[in-house]
Amino acid sequence: MNKPVDRPPLIRLAVPADAEALSALILRTIRESNTADYPPDEIERVCASFTPEEVAKQIAARDVFVSFAPGSSQASPETRPVGTVSLGVKPRLSGGETAKLHVLFVAPEWQGRGLGLRLVAHLEAHALRQGHRLLQVSSSLTARQFYQRLGYRELAFEPRAEGSTYLMEKALV
Ligand SMILES: CC(C)(COP(=O)(O)OP(=O)(O)OC[C@H]1O[C@@H](n2cnc3c(N)ncnc32)[C@H](O)[C@@H]1OP(=O)(O)O)[C@@H](O)C(=O)NCCC(=O)NCCS
Repeated sequence: MNKPVDRPPLIRLAVPADAEALSALILRTIRESNTADYPPDEIERVCASFTPEEVAKQIAARDVFVSFAPGSSQASPETRPVGTVSLGVKPRLSGGETAKLHVLFVAPEWQGRGLGLRLVAHLEAHALRQGHRLLQVSSSLTARQFYQRLGYRELAFEPRAEGSTYLMEKALV
């Protein structure tokens, strides 16, 4: 069990220069934390969506947030990314927009210390400020109970060769 956080990680919007470090964080977390729930071939197909080039595209297309472990001094407030989460918005055929939480990852050594909770709360507040009242997520099999705990309700199972998920949603207040 990891220890509670005394100095919580900072959260800011990602910039293109973050793509490489974010890709490394995501790939390491998938390979360490999701392997119990997905077979190796699916894990590698999921990883193909998070190369530095793909992460750079995501930073351009979505509101990507990155969380840094606090540095040891005021002069170096950021060290390395330890968590990430994104907001993607798509127009619906029926009109309006669907807001979706994507790519929530917490570095394995930071899991169980409340950072996942903080990142989701940060994203929900951001989505609400953008005028969204409903937030969806395609949850990994690994995170299904985590989202249930945060008030997300299950809508459908989404079978996929590159990692099956559960579509879930939550009303924002
Ligand atoms: C899912 C994930 C983001 C959770 O992050 P985290 O920082 O470990 O979560 P927190 O410490 O904020 O946990 C918040 C609460 O959820 C619970 N929780 C966390 N992960 C859980 C899980 N997989 N199953 C059940 N409960 C879980 C915690 O016990 C905690 O409960 P508590 O408040 O009663 O102590 C992290 O485990 C992760 O990166 N997993 C691998 C990547 C992944 O699958 N991401 C989701 C993609 S949709």
